[in-house]
Order: sequence, then C-alpha cells, then structure tokens
Amino acid sequence: MTIDQSLIEKLKSARSLVFFTGAGISAESGIPTFRGKDGIWKKLKPEELANFDAFMSNPDMVWEWYNHRKKIIHEAQPNKGHLTIAEMQNYFDEVIIVTQNIDNLHRRAGSKNIFELHGNIERNFCVNCKKFYNEELDFSEGVPKCECGGLIRPDVVWFGEYLPEDQFKGGEKAAGNADVFFIVGTSAIVYPAAGLVFTAKQSGALLVEINVVETEISSAVDYSFFGEAGTILPNILEAYKSSIVS
Ligand code: OAD
Repeated sequence: MTIDQSLIEKLKSARSLVFFTGAGISAESGIPTFRGKDGIWKKLKPEELANFDAFMSNPDMVWEWYNHRKKIIHEAQPNKGHLTIAEMQNYFDEVIIVTQNIDNLHRRAGSKNIFELHGNIERNFCVNCKKFYNEELDFSEGVPKCECGGLIRPDVVWFGEYLPEDQFKGGEKAAGNADVFFIVGTSAIVYPAAGLVFTAKQSGALLVEINVVETEISSAVDYSFFGEAGTILPNILEAYKSSIVS
C-alpha cells in the first residue's frame, strides 16, 4: 500500500496527533464490534442491556452480559493497531487517544495519554453512593452490593447517560488542538463523541479516516484508508519512518 506523500509531509510538521478510536480498532483483538455484519447490536438490542432502567429492572441479566464481555476483553491482547499508536509516542511531541472503547487495550499497548469517553469495564461503582469498587467483584450471592446497600454497576456509559465531563472536555481540547486527527474503527454515529470529528475539522486539523468501510463522516475527511487498522496504521508509521531517515 502506498501512503500519499502529502500526508507524510503533514505528519512531518505535526506537533499533536489525536487518535479518535472505536470498536473497530479492537476487532482484530477478537472483541466484537457493535454495528456491522457481526456487530453485537444485530443480535441484542442496546436498550435491553445498555441503559440504566434495564440494569435496575434486571441487574443479573445486564451483569451477565458485562461479565461475558469482560472475559473476552481479559483474554484479548492489544493488536498491531493499538501497538502502532503507542509506538507513535516515540516520534511525535504529543499523541493523544480519545476512545469510545471500554476495553483498556490502548493502555495495555503502552499509550499514556488517553481520554475514555464511554468509561472503562475494569471499574465499577455503586448506583447509590457512587463509591468505586475496582477490585474483582464477588457474584456468588448474586449481583454485588455496596456497603450502603446500593447495587454495584460497571463504570461504562449507557444510552441516555452523560459522558464523564473531565474525559469529554479533555477529548474536546485535544480535538481542538490536533494537527492530524485520525478516526479509526468507528462508525462515528454515536453523539456527542462523534461531534469531536467536527471540532477537529473546524479547528483546522487534517482528518484521516481508517475503516474497513465508508462511514457517515467519510465525505468530511481529507484522507480515507479502507482496510484494517492493524495493517494501515503500521504502513503509515513505516512510511513516516522511512521519510525521516532519508
Ligand atoms: P461500531 O460497532 O458502531 O463501529 C465499528 C466500526 O469499526 C465500523 O465502522 C466498522 O466498519 C469498523 N471496523 C471493523 N473492523 C475494523 C478493522 N479491523 N479496522 C478498522 N475498522 C474496522 O463501534 P463504535 O463506533 O465504537 O457506546 O460505536 C460507538 C458506540 O456505540 C460505542 O462506544 C458504544 C456503542 O453503542 C456505548 O455503549 C455508549
């Protein structure tokens, strides 16, 4: 695959790279995406599992599903896409990840500067007093409860909930300061997260999309790469590295 020289030139003068990522970057680690042909929302309705009312009326079912996802995530390893983004930290002044994923794989790959817009499956908190419970939970007597009596839930953002303010603000600032804004493996249709693409564009960032298919935002980007993130990201970094030694 050839990477446009004009993109490499832009990267050479870039100070801040931002990677806005979605479920597609973790697909090659074996974690199913939400939409698309094998997406989990094809088989399950998000409103039955990923919202607060569903949790309060059937916490066992919702936890069963999250524990199933947690198991898949724990068995998964960061792939070449996550690892290449982490490696970029060696070549650019600032590399920021703004992710919709809850799977922790960017951190496990070695990325340092991460904003998690939709929470993290490794954390839990009490629906009542908000106390955090980040150790392994005990389900032997049903859904675990806080010392105050409230149910403990996963610290993930459900439909109809606000995004964590500090994480969203951090993501917005990063998007506004980005020189090159990569959009990797996301259908870019879930707001407010997807709005960051337009924040970056309005602030003058170069937009680069990497996805296996065209998306809602493809017509707004400067460069589109159709293919797997675990192949395209290493190709871009290799092309960049060859250009700086020559
Ligand atoms: P989606 O499942 O909506 O989209 C995944 C995208 O990744 C699709 O556009 C795929 O074409 C693309 N894709 C699949 N494999 C890929 C690969 N190997 N390389 C590159 N791209 C690939 O996931 P998100 O956009 O992350 O929210 O979904 C956004 C939010 O909707 C999620 O965070 C979640 C969900 O409902 C909440 O749970 C709040």
